[in-house]
Amino acid sequence: MSSEHKGVHKATVSFSDGTPAIELPILKGASGPEVIDIRKLYGQTGKFTYDPGFLSTASCNSSITYIDGDKGELLYRGYPIDQLATQCDFLETCYLILYGELPNPAQKSDFVHRVTHHTMVHEQLQFFLRGFRRDAHPMAVMTGLAGALSAFYPDSMNLNDPHQREISAIRLIAKMPTLVAMAYKYSVGEPFVYPQNNLSYTANFMRMMFATPCEEYKVNDVLVRAMDRIFILHADHEQNASTSTVRLCASSGTNPFAAIAAGVACLWGPAHGGANEACLTMLNEIQANGGVAKIGEFIANVKDKNSTVRLMGFGHRVYKNYDPRAKLMRDTCHEVLNELGLQDDPLFKLAMALEKIALEDEYFVSRKLYPNVDFYSGIVQRAIGIPVQLFTAIFALARTVGWIAQLNEMITDPEYKIGRPRQLYQGAIARTVTPIAQRG
Ligand code: SDX
Repeated sequence: MSSEHKGVHKATVSFSDGTPAIELPILKGASGPEVIDIRKLYGQTGKFTYDPGFLSTASCNSSITYIDGDKGELLYRGYPIDQLATQCDFLETCYLILYGELPNPAQKSDFVHRVTHHTMVHEQLQFFLRGFRRDAHPMAVMTGLAGALSAFYPDSMNLNDPHQREISAIRLIAKMPTLVAMAYKYSVGEPFVYPQNNLSYTANFMRMMFATPCEEYKVNDVLVRAMDRIFILHADHEQNASTSTVRLCASSGTNPFAAIAAGVACLWGPAHGGANEACLTMLNEIQANGGVAKIGEFIANVKDKNSTVRLMGFGHRVYKNYDPRAKLMRDTCHEVLNELGLQDDPLFKLAMALEKIALEDEYFVSRKLYPNVDFYSGIVQRAIGIPVQLFTAIFALARTVGWIAQLNEMITDPEYKIGRPRQLYQGAIARTVTPIAQRG
């Protein structure tokens, strides 16, 4: 039993059906809730636990990200998100998430050099794009492209080889911006823009997105900084749906590109990474229906039990306080809108009015529904010029480093096994087939 698994005390489970009581160790981590180690439960009692949605289930050991939902605290490898978002850049944060420590200047320079020199993708990949309709959703394209990378890198497919894990990590972090920019250029009918090695990671992404062959692209440092901060805020988030998908997918021993493609597919959902796109669509609809004056009507609709309307960008499975990323995103909003002379942006004013009303409304207060990372990120990205449908692809770009780090942590965990949950079976019990000729 490894040191962090020392049981501090025990849980005794007794049963009213005559099953003998058992004792289960309670394990304590560095922070956060203790866990009841139920690994021997089925073997000793023939019973499973039942926890759809995993509200009370820790699926793994991890040392990467810590969230305190009640305090609204988020740490990457112990560093508070606000310090990283204001004092570091995204590649520094990638290094921290991947290797566990912030890089010194030499380590950072080497990491930046390695990532920079892997930003190009195989020329054949552009033909994958040409197979899509121009109006394909970028997340459909990204799901395809991420998985397609596994057809191009036979030398970095084996997750059990540390060297292959390392090179596939660098390739994925380096190539996701290129692929996202290609998906965008393809959708607007503009030529693909190749990476430029003399630019920073995020300036290079912005240039691949917005440059055209017709004129020199001018980097706007305020917008680059804002984009870089968006990447940092989305880099990892403990065992969220897409990260858990990547872990479960990789637990079969598949290759890193296929596992990341599974994460991209899961992130697409509007309850998860698709919420920023859904949030901006929601703001646009309220604006079109009368704007601030109509917020009361919209909120009433959200609270109506018969309505399926949700206040997108609000609520979180873990945060029962303000998502610390939302605060930083709101600050970034102000910076970008001021830089672009959009201080009076009606959607930003509408979002702030909506936030104010929701934070005072008993329905949201009683359910501890606060703005999450997606509430302001859409407004910032729209101001930067990112089309709404590309928001979740940007989220996937940023989250790739978290998915990789979590996947690597799982593969190197001595307790790692293929993930295989069980079920509470409610279906038909064994019965005999009636030959079709005799079926009524
Ligand atoms: C992300 O897990 C992560 O860490 C994810 C993420 C990451 O970085 O990976 O943080 C990124 O996905 C952020 C969340 C983005 N999603 C949205 O903004 C979509 C809107 N939010 C909800 O769909 C919802 O809040 C979830 C999915 C985020 C959380 O849902 P839960 O924890 O399963 O909570 P629930 O659906 O059981 O809701 C509890 C109550 C319910 O009311 P009652 O049935 O008890 O009366 O709160 C209500 C819900 O109806 N509720 C909302 C609401 N969210 C929850 N009501 C209105 N608007 C909302 N947004």
